[in-house]
Amino acid sequence: MNPSADVVVVGGGVVGCSVAYHAARRGARVVLLEAETVGSGASGAAAGMLAAQAEARGPDSFLDLLLESRKMHRKLGAELYEVTGLDAEYVWEGTLRVALSEAHAEDLSEALRWQREAGLSARWLDGAEVRELEPALSAGISGALYLPEDGQVNSPRLVRALALAAARNRAEVSEGEPASGLIRQRNRIAGVRTARRKIAAGSVVVCGGVASGTLARHLGIRLPVAPVKGQILSVETTTPPITSNVWDEECYLVPKRDGRVIVGATEEPGTHDRRPTLGGVAGLAGAAIGLLPHLARRPFAGAWGGLRPGTPDGRPLIGPAGDPEGLLIATGHYRNGVLLAPITGDAVSALALGEQPAVDLSPFSPLRFEGQR
Ligand code: GLY
Repeated sequence: MNPSADVVVVGGGVVGCSVAYHAARRGARVVLLEAETVGSGASGAAAGMLAAQAEARGPDSFLDLLLESRKMHRKLGAELYEVTGLDAEYVWEGTLRVALSEAHAEDLSEALRWQREAGLSARWLDGAEVRELEPALSAGISGALYLPEDGQVNSPRLVRALALAAARNRAEVSEGEPASGLIRQRNRIAGVRTARRKIAAGSVVVCGGVASGTLARHLGIRLPVAPVKGQILSVETTTPPITSNVWDEECYLVPKRDGRVIVGATEEPGTHDRRPTLGGVAGLAGAAIGLLPHLARRPFAGAWGGLRPGTPDGRPLIGPAGDPEGLLIATGHYRNGVLLAPITGDAVSALALGEQPAVDLSPFSPLRFEGQR
């Protein structure tokens, strides 16, 4: 079978669209297969925080990946705008991890310590300094870890811009076309089957988010990906009352450029039902008003849910699937799919085209749980 594509990407979330864009930009013939519409899964639901430092738990290879990808986002917005005319609405105003209790302040001080030791920009603000930076925040905040280099983006717009930029680089973006099976030739994956065609390919990349486990099973491989539901609310404001991402133990607030404040997010494993619940909405609404009392007087603009693709250690699965050859995995990004999309797209498209990725992906190998089953 002669390849009709160099790379077939299975899944059109932010990671799949980024792989497709980066591979197409490298000159590859790319087909992206999306079962529904691009961004219809977790990335379309995400609040879009690019909170590399706020999400990190310590100085390790995962932090390096988060930081490198955050750096790539800083260039990606302009690049996508130039290719597509779509503005993904990046905001680079940092994250405030605020403390409402003494115990949380101690945890945040520990994060401050290791972040500064690692040479990262991080500062402690006392309550008065927090309100100087963000006057609308609650008087109950005793202090905050301020991470000025974090940012945020409009995630659904970013996905659309990546898909469009892939298409502008001659990728075929096919919505409503799920992959139904892999084509094997001896010990190699030679392409993908769908209900209406066979696509021969040099490499196949599985980027199915929470659907990756099921998808992989259909394709004859096993991936440890499980859903962790996140509920999100949106509140309308005319002028956002805060500028940075604000995050306490109960919720985070992400002020969008169009005036909405996005409130996230629950963490609920064990369900595939992504509909918001009354308890989820009530919990987030109460926590959000506690942080930013002003929100109590603003119109509620909606609630939705998404299913994060969780893995046993909370880190993504990126790299070759092992045996058979020709199959790559880029999924399981859990809380950080939007943030990690650029680096994953760049590294995986390099692998798919037989090049050396710019980062060491070995800590994120999809094979690392083998033998633990
Ligand atoms: N990235 C934030 C979340 O998953 O809730």
